[in-house]
Amino acid sequence: MKRPGCWKTPAVAVCLVLLAGLQAQDLQGHVSIILLGATGDLARKYLWQGLFQLYLDEVGKGYSFSFHGAALTSTKQGQEFVTKVLESLSCPEDVAPERCAELRGRFQQLSQYRRLRTSEDYMALSKDIEAQLQHEGLREAGRIFYFSVPPFAYADIARSMNSSCRPGPGAWLRVVLEKPFGHDRLSAQQLATELRSFFQEEEMYRVDHYLGKQAVAQILPFRDQNRKALDGLWNRHHVERVEIIMKETVDAEGRTSFYEEYGVIRDVLQNHLTEVLSLVAMELPYNVSSSGAVLQHKLQAFQALRGLHKDSAVLGQYQAYSGQVRQEQQKPDSFHSLTPTFAGILVHMDNLRWEGVPFILMSGKALDERVGYVRILFRNQAYCAQTEARWVADQSQCLPRQIVFYIGHGELGSPAVLVSRNLFRPSLPSESWKEVEGRPGLRLFGRPLSDFYAYSPVREQDAYSVLISHIFHGRKDSFITTENLLASWAFWTPLLDSLAYEAPRLYPGGAANGHLLDFEFTGTQVRFSQQQPEQLVPGPGSAPSPSDFQVLQSKYRDSPLISAWPEELIAKLADDIEATAMRAVRRFGEFHLALSGGSSPVPLFQQLATRHYGFPWAHTHLWLVDERCVPLRDPESNFQGLQAHLLQHVRVPYYNVHPMPVHLHQRLCAEEDQGAQMYASEISALVTNSSFDLVLLGMGTDGHTASLFPQSPAGLEGPQPVVLTRSPSKPHQRMSLSLPLINRARKVAILVMGRMKREITMLVSRVGHEPKKWPISGVLPSSGQLVWYMDYEAFLG
Ligand code: BG6
Repeated sequence: MKRPGCWKTPAVAVCLVLLAGLQAQDLQGHVSIILLGATGDLARKYLWQGLFQLYLDEVGKGYSFSFHGAALTSTKQGQEFVTKVLESLSCPEDVAPERCAELRGRFQQLSQYRRLRTSEDYMALSKDIEAQLQHEGLREAGRIFYFSVPPFAYADIARSMNSSCRPGPGAWLRVVLEKPFGHDRLSAQQLATELRSFFQEEEMYRVDHYLGKQAVAQILPFRDQNRKALDGLWNRHHVERVEIIMKETVDAEGRTSFYEEYGVIRDVLQNHLTEVLSLVAMELPYNVSSSGAVLQHKLQAFQALRGLHKDSAVLGQYQAYSGQVRQEQQKPDSFHSLTPTFAGILVHMDNLRWEGVPFILMSGKALDERVGYVRILFRNQAYCAQTEARWVADQSQCLPRQIVFYIGHGELGSPAVLVSRNLFRPSLPSESWKEVEGRPGLRLFGRPLSDFYAYSPVREQDAYSVLISHIFHGRKDSFITTENLLASWAFWTPLLDSLAYEAPRLYPGGAANGHLLDFEFTGTQVRFSQQQPEQLVPGPGSAPSPSDFQVLQSKYRDSPLISAWPEELIAKLADDIEATAMRAVRRFGEFHLALSGGSSPVPLFQQLATRHYGFPWAHTHLWLVDERCVPLRDPESNFQGLQAHLLQHVRVPYYNVHPMPVHLHQRLCAEEDQGAQMYASEISALVTNSSFDLVLLGMGTDGHTASLFPQSPAGLEGPQPVVLTRSPSKPHQRMSLSLPLINRARKVAILVMGRMKREITMLVSRVGHEPKKWPISGVLPSSGQLVWYMDYEAFLG
């Protein structure tokens, strides 16, 4: 082909480059990008710009492109919209304005809008792509379908696309999906199954735009490039805590119909903050550029997450929110939303690297500033002999030591990586990260900026531009795989369920929030630091608060009764148990405690684990009152509850822990295995007179206690100290201490909590000794003491 002017120098050099480009173009092939939802908000704000950036970055490297904006909007309106957006596209700062205009012009020529509604429209699109390839003699490299549409539209689009728009053999297909990816574990699973019927896993790119934020995308490379310095530091021995924070000043006005369905945990924590958490917490793969290895290590990190419970979270809602929902969704004046717009969550990982390190995840709308960061704060175990005025940033070990991935906004105003100078000088790729210039007076995380080695990107890039480039290069580690998604929902769904009816704390918004949303954590529990001020309490302000009540002491079934609000009741019971333990250890050198399972004792276990530093754990033997016939690792197992909420936090010697032998010879509670007899022998060998120092019982709504149920005679009398029984509810098979053994105890405490117990509490208060009907009525220690602990809801209703 004749190429005019190419023989003249200096144009020769330019022509050679062009020729090389054209040949390379032939080599790499043609890519068609179809943007569905091309007239939407996301497309207008980010996606068109991201596609333009991709074009700028890649066109010289041998690819040819065509961009198809598509939506339901009519062709005329859509074309007008797209033309307007394309005119506003910008180039990187170092591109001269004329050159930028020229590039934009070329991009515009390659871009067109079309209406895509029916399956015929999809067929026509595919035909047009094929015709273009043929006409221009291009080899097809692949097609990208970017679904910037609400999830309810996914299935129809996917079906049409799958049946008529797949590229020919040898070319790839990439389908890009935007959140929300479900509402909980089940809906995410359903959506995933539906999508899997159309697309292969490797074809799907689920976007979490936080993975495209430059500081977030730098976490793994940073860990990799600074392996040597971080190797000894990135663990529970050195890290005091990790904060993963996304604060916003905006509220949810204008999008309450979405927000009301989701709330802050689903909107931000389940995805953005969890992804960041996994990048910080995962084991570092040997090769961080292997997508497969990164994704696999990420999944392992999910597996190490300790389950969350109600007390792992504090929730808030900005005051204007309910009003906005009422207005935007025509709700009656009486409507009050329970949707949280603020959440602080305490997460722990159960693995050797992170055990005991608190990970704080926090996000909220209508807060005092917009900022996002991950802060790894290291323990400080130094004492500095000189006065603070003489401490030098890069030498003093007494100054705080921290690494911060500053995602953006805030005081600094741009993404950054900050490393305290007293840690180490980090290595970052100099072509993409530069040292931040000094900003006298600027303080971050309690220190002047000059205390940090601080780096920011040479070229700031929007997250979507980064991700579009990663899609193009097939970098799957920047996206959410199905397994990853389901693991995240599996982690969050139980917490979301348990919080569904919790009233969030109301906050005024902005700077006026003061310290209202500050929270504190101990052990696995988190709570607001301040009491809720009265004027913010919704509904009748006169509801009694726990502190309005004293712990009441009276009698129930002729035995002492202690009643209080739950928190105080648990505190009192824990104190009493500790006092009993101290007495027993002083007198006999050991303390034998038999504990029930279920949900009522959980707060007690937590209280003992986190508040009772003087407890003589080293001399305590822990026994089970009853057990479900499931493996000990099963979440239903009483022992598992004890392990999760108490054992793993205290130091009870291994040989003092006595789970019930329900799982023998690879089967559960078989009579022939004689598990009950084995447990009885163990008790008789270790507990003097088989008389426990303290037995903690509960009472079921049917009057059962331990695993001794009405209408089932096993264990109510007779010589067998430990028995196999049957529960009316699943799992049916149980093992239990018998009533005669329980009644040998020196002390029995019965804990009854919650409104559900109100009726049985009233009933049992009137009945005599009728263990067959109400096994609880058979609890009468022969020479020991019985004490009832009831909260007001169980006792007063
Ligand atoms: C989105 C959430 O995923 O992230 C929004 O749906 C939130 O509620 C937004 O405002 C925050 O993203 P960025 O990039 O502004 O920090």
